[in-house]
Amino acid sequence: MDFTLTEEHLMIRDAARDFAQNELLPGVIERDEKQSFPNELVKKMGELGFLGVMVDPKYGGSGMDTISYVLIMEELSKIDASASVMVSVNNSLVCYGLEKYGSEEQKQKYLTKLATGEFLGAFCLSEPEAGSDATSQKTTAEDKGDHYLINGTKNWITNGGRADVYLVIAQTHKEKGHHGINAFIVEKGMDGFHVGPKEDKLGIRGSDTHTLQFNDVKVPKENRIGEDGFGFRFAMKTLSGGRIGIAAQALGIASGAYELALKYSKERKAFGTEICNHQAIAFKLADMATEIEAARHLVMKAAWEKDQGVNYDMSGAMAKLYASKVAMEQSVEAVQIHGGNGFVKEYHVERLMRDAKITQIYEGTSEIQKIVISRRVLQK
Ligand code: CAA
Repeated sequence: MDFTLTEEHLMIRDAARDFAQNELLPGVIERDEKQSFPNELVKKMGELGFLGVMVDPKYGGSGMDTISYVLIMEELSKIDASASVMVSVNNSLVCYGLEKYGSEEQKQKYLTKLATGEFLGAFCLSEPEAGSDATSQKTTAEDKGDHYLINGTKNWITNGGRADVYLVIAQTHKEKGHHGINAFIVEKGMDGFHVGPKEDKLGIRGSDTHTLQFNDVKVPKENRIGEDGFGFRFAMKTLSGGRIGIAAQALGIASGAYELALKYSKERKAFGTEICNHQAIAFKLADMATEIEAARHLVMKAAWEKDQGVNYDMSGAMAKLYASKVAMEQSVEAVQIHGGNGFVKEYHVERLMRDAKITQIYEGTSEIQKIVISRRVLQK
C-alpha cells in the first residue's frame, strides 16, 4: 500500500492551491455577502482545466484521474465552497454523465464545450416533492415521436441561472415507476424553459441556486441520454461519483477551517501565552487533525476505487457521510478557537461553518448515505 502522491498529483494540488489563494480568496467575503460569482473566475477555472478534470482530452478535458479531482476540490473548498460546488456539478454530474452514457453526437456537441468551460452544466433531479425520494419524479417528458415535451418544476438547482446545458430527469412512462424515467439534455433558451428567482441561502452563497420551470419544452429525441427508461439509473450512477466530489468539498471546508484555527492559535495570546499552549486548545487541534485525516483517507479510498474501476457506491457514500460530519463539527470548533473573532466575517471561519451544512444535505442527505451504506452492509 502506497499513500504517496505522485509528482503530477502534487503539481495539480499546488496549481489549485495557488488559484484558490491568489484568485478566490481576495473577493470571497464580498461574494458571500452579495451572493455573486463573476464569470471571469469561472472562465479561469475552465482555462486551468478544473471544469473537465477527468474528461478524455479528445473531448477537451484534462484527462486526469479522480485522485487529482479530489485534490482540486479540497484546495478550492478550503477557500471558497461556492466555487467548488460549480466545479463539482460540472465535473461529477454533467461531464461524467455525458462522457459515460451520452452518444458520440452528444459528446461532440455538448461535452467538448462543458469540459473546457465554454459551457457550464447543471443537473436537475430534485423537485419540490422529490428531493431524497428521487423516484417520485413529477416532471413529465411526454413522447411525441421525434421529440419529448417536458413539463414540471425543478428545485435547488446549482448553476441554475448561469448554466448553458441542463441534464433533466423526468418521468415518461408513469406506469413503469422509476423504470419509466428518462434523462434529457436541455439547452438554455429552449422555448418554455424559465429560470426562477435565486435562492437566498445560509451557505455557499456565491453559488447560483434556482428553481427551474419547464412549460412544454420541446426536446429533440436525440437529446435523451441512453435507452428509454434509463434515466433513474443514470441519475443514481452519476450521483455515486458526485458524492466523492462533495466528500472532497467537505474535506476542504474542514481542513480550511482547521488551518485557520491552527494559525490563529499560534498568534493569539491569552493568560500570558499563545492559546495553542493551553491544553484545552491543543487537544481541540489534535482532534481536528485526526478527524480530518480520517476523512481524507475515506475520500482518497473512494477516489482510488473509482480510478480502479471497482464499485464505489459504498465508499463514496461513506466518504460523504463522514467528511460532511467532520466539516460541520470541525468548522464549529474552528469558530470556537477563534472566540469572538470567529463570529466576525473577516476571519472566514463563520463562512466555512455556514458552508459546511450543505455538504450534509445535497447529493443525498446524511440519512440517504446511511441508506446506501446499510443496504450494502446488510446485502439487501
Ligand atoms: N447505481 C445503479 N443503479 C442504482 C443505484 C446505483 N448507485 N442505486 C439505485 N439504483 C437502481 C436500483 O438497482 C433500482 O433498480 P431496479 O428497480 O431495476 O432494481 C432502482 O435504482 C431503484 O433503487 P432503489 O429501490 O434503491 O430506490 P429507492 O427509492 O429506495 O431510493 C435512494 C434509493 C438511494 C434513496 C435514492 O432515491 C437516492 O439516492 N436519493 C437521493 C437523491 C439525491 O442524492 N438527490 C440529490 C440531488 S442532486 C444535487 O444535489 C446536485 C447539486 O445541485 C449539488
